[in-house]
Amino acid sequence: MTVGIPISRLWPAPDPAPLSDPELTALYGRAGGPHLRVNFVSSLDGAVTLDGYSEGLSGEPDKRVFGLLRMLCDGLLVAAGTLRHEGYRAVRLSAARRAWRREHGLAEYPTLIVVSGSLDLDPAQAAFADAPVRPIVLTRAGVRPPPGLADVADLIRCGEERVELAAGLAELRRRGLAELLCEGGPHLFGALTAADLVDELCLTVAPLLAGPGPGRITAGAATVPRQLGLRHVLAAADGVLMLRYTRRG
Ligand SMILES: NC(=O)c1ccc[n+]([C@@H]2O[C@H](COP(=O)([O-])OP(=O)(O)OC[C@H]3O[C@@H](n4cnc5c(N)ncnc54)[C@H](OP(=O)(O)O)[C@@H]3O)[C@@H](O)[C@H]2O)c1
Repeated sequence: MTVGIPISRLWPAPDPAPLSDPELTALYGRAGGPHLRVNFVSSLDGAVTLDGYSEGLSGEPDKRVFGLLRMLCDGLLVAAGTLRHEGYRAVRLSAARRAWRREHGLAEYPTLIVVSGSLDLDPAQAAFADAPVRPIVLTRAGVRPPPGLADVADLIRCGEERVELAAGLAELRRRGLAELLCEGGPHLFGALTAADLVDELCLTVAPLLAGPGPGRITAGAATVPRQLGLRHVLAAADGVLMLRYTRRG
């Protein structure tokens, strides 16, 4: 990949040298076992969107790490709200990233996993219709899929009243999807936090004040605070910070 805006390490061991893709890949890495990594971008004042979308917060350095994190995971978890709102497309990876995955014993593409309690999903949406690997929908008992959805995705049902995320993740792991990357949105992140399922947060902080209005990266019912430990701080030359925190111990 042609590197535009340089990214370097601020902590630990500050080093102004621009990080290459292999160096960034090593910094984020794979956990080597069951692991849920969450990735978000936020403004300095905590907004999760600009003009209603995450796009306005995400510049080239964020997109670069976003792509590398997709390369590193077995499964890509996204809530139905974000899938619908952001118009998710099929997961695509460059030839180099697919080759990296093959060399590391992974499937050529991660599996898209959509969390939906209502099954209000459009099978024609590119995320399903053009998927290189058959996606999975995590849902609950007793909800009828819309016509065509079962043709383009596998359904896993966990929970009666709502999607039981712990049971869903356990089933994904049984199917070999151990290392998951969650790309949001805030309600799913809030529910994963409440269920104490979050092992890692990768947070890009965009250097702008969005002002009042947008929500935070987390939403839903209140839960107990969860302490994480800092693993690294990267900075891009345009003032973007990239923070990586993991579960302690
Ligand atoms: N800045 C960023 O990095 C970033 C990342 C992602 C999203 N976003 C923004 O976030 C916004 C959307 O977020 P959102 O919070 O409204 O929705 P969300 O978290 O993306 O989706 C919520 C939906 O997830 C499904 N769901 C099913 N079971 C669930 C469970 N146990 N817990 C939580 N969710 C469950 C439900 O779908 P059903 O309705 O189908 O039942 C629910 O309506 C958009 O504006 C998007 O642009 C920003």
